[in-house]
Amino acid sequence: MCGIYGFIGEGKVEDLVNGLKKLEYRGYDSAGIAFLKSKNLIVEKRTGKVDALRSLMNGRLEERINAGIAHTRWATHGMPTDINAHPQMDCTKKIAVVHNGIIENFATLRDALTSEGHIFVSQTDTEVIAHLIEKYFRGDLFEAVRVATLDLEGTYAIGVIHADIEDEVIFARRKSPLVIAANDFGTYCASDVTPLISVSRDVVFLEDGQIARLKRNKFEIFENSGKPVENHFYHINWDEKSAEKGGYKHFMMKEIHEEPRVISDALVGRIKDGKVIFEEIKDWNEYIKNIRKINVIACGTSFHAGLVFKYFLERLRPFDVEVEVSSEFRYRNVFVDDRVLNIAISQSGETADTLESVRLVKSLGGKVLAISNVVGSTLTREADRTLYINAGPEISVASTKAYIGQITVLYLLAIYMDQLMGGNHSEMVINLTKLPEIVDNFILTQEDSIKSIADKYVGYTNFMYIGRGINYPSALEGALKLKEISYTNAVGYQAGELKHGPIALLDEKFPVMAIVVDDELKDKMISNVLETKARNAQVVAIVSASDRKVSSLVNDVIRVPDLESYLYPFVVGIALQLFAYNVANDRNLNIDMPRNLAKSVTVE
Ligand code: M6R
Repeated sequence: MCGIYGFIGEGKVEDLVNGLKKLEYRGYDSAGIAFLKSKNLIVEKRTGKVDALRSLMNGRLEERINAGIAHTRWATHGMPTDINAHPQMDCTKKIAVVHNGIIENFATLRDALTSEGHIFVSQTDTEVIAHLIEKYFRGDLFEAVRVATLDLEGTYAIGVIHADIEDEVIFARRKSPLVIAANDFGTYCASDVTPLISVSRDVVFLEDGQIARLKRNKFEIFENSGKPVENHFYHINWDEKSAEKGGYKHFMMKEIHEEPRVISDALVGRIKDGKVIFEEIKDWNEYIKNIRKINVIACGTSFHAGLVFKYFLERLRPFDVEVEVSSEFRYRNVFVDDRVLNIAISQSGETADTLESVRLVKSLGGKVLAISNVVGSTLTREADRTLYINAGPEISVASTKAYIGQITVLYLLAIYMDQLMGGNHSEMVINLTKLPEIVDNFILTQEDSIKSIADKYVGYTNFMYIGRGINYPSALEGALKLKEISYTNAVGYQAGELKHGPIALLDEKFPVMAIVVDDELKDKMISNVLETKARNAQVVAIVSASDRKVSSLVNDVIRVPDLESYLYPFVVGIALQLFAYNVANDRNLNIDMPRNLAKSVTVE
């Protein structure tokens, strides 16, 4: 959460603002910059989105600067106000700090610093870092930051600049990501790779406890003991264009339209002669053959992808798969041994609770397989093995293409595991390869009709999503999408649970989104739909293209292609993304940056 960008080298004020703009999806309560110009430290910040900061800097954007740091905030300590916006400064106003994360001992530190005479002006935890650096500064900024970080408890990625030190900018990290890239114009650091793609495709990720000293022509990384470390470069093959809207009104819609390509890219190089191959884990074949239990750990949409995996794998063979949200898993007394496989799913690879769950598993001697989209992210570096989904950067806060990429890879993984245990699923493999075209055609042909249905339901403030079996996770995911971008109270339920309580909510003002595709549980779903109709609820049903049974029973239908039943999560998932998008768009909401949310949740 929150975004950090900074550089030292040839640049102008606008470069800081543009860098931040590419990180805005990380948090957008307020934004600010600090830069050095003719030996002066200038700090400007403003509540609101990066464009508010751009307006504030209007007329000064072209000013040449030698170094600067910038921040877009997702508030944790203190309301989103100009004063609480970053950068935060020390008493001398010579040190400016931007910070992602939470300083857990900030109150103790603030009390101690106050008693030493420091004066605080904000409610942020970040301000203690600026005063601590002031306390330890003896002319060497790197050393002051290094010593200050030793006093900090909690999580941080920080960028620090000092009015009197013109030739360096310092960055430090603990459990909150930072990436460094360099080119002929300077050296750059950011909280994710998105603003660095235009700098260089070869980047270095800071590790926990490390501190980087950025100079115009080089950068050096050290442990917090002061010991230098060798730089390890990762190559990023993301396309710069993929971080732009490409003619769509919102990134979310662009990313939905990328889904056919995302499925193909997730399959590339992983299918041969009707079989799934995973070079990344082939040395684990013996281990996989012997596993008895799988723990799947994830949050939000990634958690829903994990649930789809459970249902799909269980179709292939009975298997003990437990899917748990990371924020619960990490505090449980979990069972882990060498016959348990732990799968951590995270688009960003930076979700704090998922990382802590991984650390728990590893401390118990367990093995972790990561499913992620971000090369070099913390998860991929801490896990034992990683399967990338290769979806390209996902900018919209609401996850869409990453979900489709995750379930594609998870289907392959389930088939791969079952192959190792003796199964043969060449027909399934062939069906997966046909999906990109089916999905492309589905989006093109059904987009408008889904929009019309969304237009009709835009006035409702509640929605109940129901499904069964492998389509139950789709109900949860559809409800999450509607909730997070349209602010509609949407709940997802197993259809069979309705009569155990939630049905009490239903009436003509509380519509139902029912997933009633042609599968083994269709008749059971129809009974549930009739129960909701009997309570006067309006029902939108997602049905298979050839269905003739359900359409006459409900108010509206969304038709998805006729498919093998295990493939419905792909098209149902996309239909529900389009529905949520159109409801939010009709309400004229900020779809890519919904209120109170941020793209990667790097705080616990
Ligand atoms: O990066 P991750 O996959 O670990 O993120 C997990 C959730 O924070 C994320 O899926 C969130 O629920 C999205 N906003 C859903 O659209």
